[in-house]
Amino acid sequence: MKLYEELLETLSSSEEPISGSELAERFGVSRNAVWKSINKMKEEGYLIKSSKSGYVLSRENPHPVSEDLKKALGTDEVILLECVDSTNNIAKELAIRGAKEGTAVFALEQTSGKGRLGRTFVSNRGGIYFSVILRPQVNADSSVFITVAAAAAVSKTLREVFNKPFPIKWVNDIFCGDKKVCGILTEGSFNAETMMFDFAVLGIGINLADQSDNLPEDVKLTAGSLCSEKTVPASLYTKIASGVYKKFFEYYADLSSERKFMNYYIENSYLDNKDVMYIKDGRLHSAKALRINSDAGLVLEEDGKITVLKAGEVSVKRV
Ligand code: BTN
Repeated sequence: MKLYEELLETLSSSEEPISGSELAERFGVSRNAVWKSINKMKEEGYLIKSSKSGYVLSRENPHPVSEDLKKALGTDEVILLECVDSTNNIAKELAIRGAKEGTAVFALEQTSGKGRLGRTFVSNRGGIYFSVILRPQVNADSSVFITVAAAAAVSKTLREVFNKPFPIKWVNDIFCGDKKVCGILTEGSFNAETMMFDFAVLGIGINLADQSDNLPEDVKLTAGSLCSEKTVPASLYTKIASGVYKKFFEYYADLSSERKFMNYYIENSYLDNKDVMYIKDGRLHSAKALRINSDAGLVLEEDGKITVLKAGEVSVKRV
């Protein structure tokens, strides 16, 4: 067994802190070697508290481990960070520097998580926040299907893990009951010469553990979480993240052909038959949402007429 694994096993089975010198003596290595292994564990996502009495591995906040994530995602291009402003920002920087399609950036926490339409996405510890670099070979008109494929991938993965439906609120919010549990933000760098994307960044935020104690009041009203516990095993994190990643790439491969994922997206629409409101041209509209069409447009009945919204956002009228 490598020193790293021996230390991890020792710390995992001890409730009490163990000092660096004791660990060094126990395994016949230098304190510097212990220190290096501890740092590697921290980089891997383990939460290790160090005090005068030594090191202790926190159990209260299990972390995904980047090696586990890499294995589950089936790629080495995975970066797992503790705390960033926004994983979309990091992924964009990497994409500009030439990072490969499929590179995924995860963070345990975001200080400036970005939502759609310039909103903030509250990203406390306990959620799954990640961004994936894409180099789509599709024109701007087809780009909406990236987000749609991602929404279908999240909903389908969650259905498989939790064995219940997770409706999709057009365009890309995933609901559990009447609460939003996932948001998706796709940002792209469009090349006007080629009329194609240089790259796109697909950002997905999933509320896994219950964070209700730390949410602003307005967010509390609309946001829910997948689990009612405040801490969730790292294995569940990895299962959901890798499930979404793999399913998304399965759908992404079908983006320019049959788009079979559209059937799932259409069948799992949250808005069907709901009364909705939306703002267009500075005016508040009221309508009934009928269905999603095969172009991912929202079909509405408004003032006795059928209209289709191609982009934007609607809110459900509360009764
Ligand atoms: C929304 O609901 O409006 C979209 C939220 C998207 C949040 C994700 S979390 C990972 C990635 N990084 C960000 O800053 N935003 C996206």
